[in-house]
Amino acid sequence: MIDGTIGMQDIRNQFPILDTEVHGHPLVYLDNAATTQKPVAVIEALDKYYRCGNANIHRGAHHLAAEATEAYENVRRQVQALIGARHSHEIVFTRGTTESINLVASSFAKRYFTGEDEVIVSGMEHHSNIVPWQLAGATMRPVPFSDDGVLDFKAMEQLFSPRTRLVAVCHASNTLGTINPIKEIVDMAHSHGVPVLVDGAQAVSHMKVDVQALGCDFYCFSGHKMYGPMGVGVMYGREELLNELPPYQGGGEMISEVTFERTTYNELPFKFEAGTPSVGDVIGLGKAIEFMLGVGIDNIAAQEGDLLHYATERLTALPGMRFFGRAPHKTSVLSFLVGTSHPYDVGTLLDQMGIAVRTGHHCTQPVMDRYGIPGTVRASFAVYNTRAEVDALAAALERIMPMLE
Ligand code: ALA
Repeated sequence: MIDGTIGMQDIRNQFPILDTEVHGHPLVYLDNAATTQKPVAVIEALDKYYRCGNANIHRGAHHLAAEATEAYENVRRQVQALIGARHSHEIVFTRGTTESINLVASSFAKRYFTGEDEVIVSGMEHHSNIVPWQLAGATMRPVPFSDDGVLDFKAMEQLFSPRTRLVAVCHASNTLGTINPIKEIVDMAHSHGVPVLVDGAQAVSHMKVDVQALGCDFYCFSGHKMYGPMGVGVMYGREELLNELPPYQGGGEMISEVTFERTTYNELPFKFEAGTPSVGDVIGLGKAIEFMLGVGIDNIAAQEGDLLHYATERLTALPGMRFFGRAPHKTSVLSFLVGTSHPYDVGTLLDQMGIAVRTGHHCTQPVMDRYGIPGTVRASFAVYNTRAEVDALAAALERIMPMLE
């Protein structure tokens, strides 16, 4: 337990940015669904890599290249263990969730689309799990959800047709916080012979993920939302499927042999890693995983669950608050509106008091359309947040309410 076996102050001390002041107030950082802050171990790993370890990987015969290659490949095994993948070569490094989904959409469409192709998505997807499929030529079949933000399984069952090529669904919604029942979704899709891609960007830092237990075919996530650096992400794919897919980009390490007539491709995972990867960021991601495992994913989930519960209670007690996303299983995301005020006005006033929240449609315009609103204010919590910060948010909201009228 945090503040039992692990001290909250010990955790906060690892995040230097939390000591920042904003507009003369201590920073209260509640925009963790957009990006988490970085612990010293990650910052120092990046610094050390560029000071003492910078080299391109795989091809070099020299000492630094060998060390960088080993460090990079070690992180692949760390990621494999973190998400329970069967093989390390099922882990492909990308720039982030968006690139991971674009990779799968592009390669999957080339291999499996026939001209009349449908992709079933949840109605609460981030644009990153809609637009790549549209670019690949698919028609979207969205699964509706209830006012509370729970997917309608009966409606989902009706969406399958002979043209369904894939189900693409978020593990957790970045706007509503809903944790979707991935195992049940996978079972339904597989019973129709349809593979499943999971956008795990909002899940991996909040809960234990086991891709083999979930049974999903692809699982995508970003390093920067799990205490790691920006510019690195992961595309997990089942070996059998990855072997079937053509490469996404050409160049660098993805080839086996190139002639002007014909190119053959490298084995997994290199077939999907064209060009020089972000080696330092991958090494930083390894440190972020060590941070998460050091605190304990169960402890992270417990701390964030407590904050979500407390914040929901505190903010519900304020007059005129409207909440979006009340699913029984949620990550630590609280989306709300204050009366009829524009979310941007609320966000700007909170910022004046040092409180960082996100406002707008959160790259989920269909969710906003579903509720007929322009956007929400979103507070999202990470393991280093405290009840005192929730109190600061509640007090600030109370203070700005008269200014909003
Ligand atoms: N997808 C990120 C968010 O939800 C940027 O804020």
